[in-house]
Amino acid sequence: MTARWQRKDLLGLRELSAEEIRLVLETADAFKEVGTREVKKVPALQGKTLVNLFIEPSTRTRTSFELAAKRLSADIVNITASASSLTKGETLKDTARVLEANHADIIVLRHSSPGAPQFLATRIAASVINAGDGAHEHPTQGLLDLYTIREKKGAVAGLHIAIIGDILFSRVARSNVFALLKMGARVTLVGPSTLVPREFEQLGVAVSHQLEEVLPQVDVVNLLRIQHERQRKEYFPGLGEYIRLFGLTKERAKLLKPDCLIMHPGPINRGVEIDSELADGPQSVILDQVTNGLAVRMAVLYLCGGIAT
Ligand code: CP
Repeated sequence: MTARWQRKDLLGLRELSAEEIRLVLETADAFKEVGTREVKKVPALQGKTLVNLFIEPSTRTRTSFELAAKRLSADIVNITASASSLTKGETLKDTARVLEANHADIIVLRHSSPGAPQFLATRIAASVINAGDGAHEHPTQGLLDLYTIREKKGAVAGLHIAIIGDILFSRVARSNVFALLKMGARVTLVGPSTLVPREFEQLGVAVSHQLEEVLPQVDVVNLLRIQHERQRKEYFPGLGEYIRLFGLTKERAKLLKPDCLIMHPGPINRGVEIDSELADGPQSVILDQVTNGLAVRMAVLYLCGGIAT
């Protein structure tokens, strides 16, 4: 299975081919099956050491990578920014080299700077997995979203997916767009013109500022939260205005096809980008996304960990 996988690092989905994406999804299928067994552990990464280096907060991604590493029998160390010598002025590169000197084989990095994982990957021998870098990419989120759509709809090709909200500052949106287009889906980005400028059409997607027009047409809606931490000025008049125009309210949800999937990468701002009842309702696959994240991250660690020397 690993014969077609040549990458020690996973930095983004822009550079992955459709065949590589398919290989990750098929590998994740095998690991999802492992999760149904009584003994949910396999020895695939026995003897390897994984470091979860999270310089930005995370609940889902950090936990999921930790569980994935444990299920693959790797040794795991968790490091957060506040508890590391980064607070004393040590550089990211020196931190990573210290980890390598301790024989780390895989470094999972979340960082607020776009390109930080790429920077490390070219300077250290260990595998580097991007767990989200600024507004650049969040490849494992893109892969788990794809996996969930494929699982629920049977295939991704030919589907129409709306990604709604703060696209400009969203690494999740970028990774989703790259992967969905490669797998043959149609994508429409929806939101205020300040957060969804027409320039995005150059990626091969449609852009709309009229949510009501898009909702009846799509097979999946993927809702994103407003990334206040990355915005340097206000991009819309206020939250009330945002909810009025772009929030998925119960009234607007009536426009959706009955089998339209409601997705959200989390964390959710209930009552802002999505009504709280819809988030927990029958069309929501938000917790399935979390569950699938484990199998997808096991697949990524297995494939990249098999290349790392
Ligand atoms: N979706 C996502 O990246 O969530 P966390 O920030 O909790 O990891």
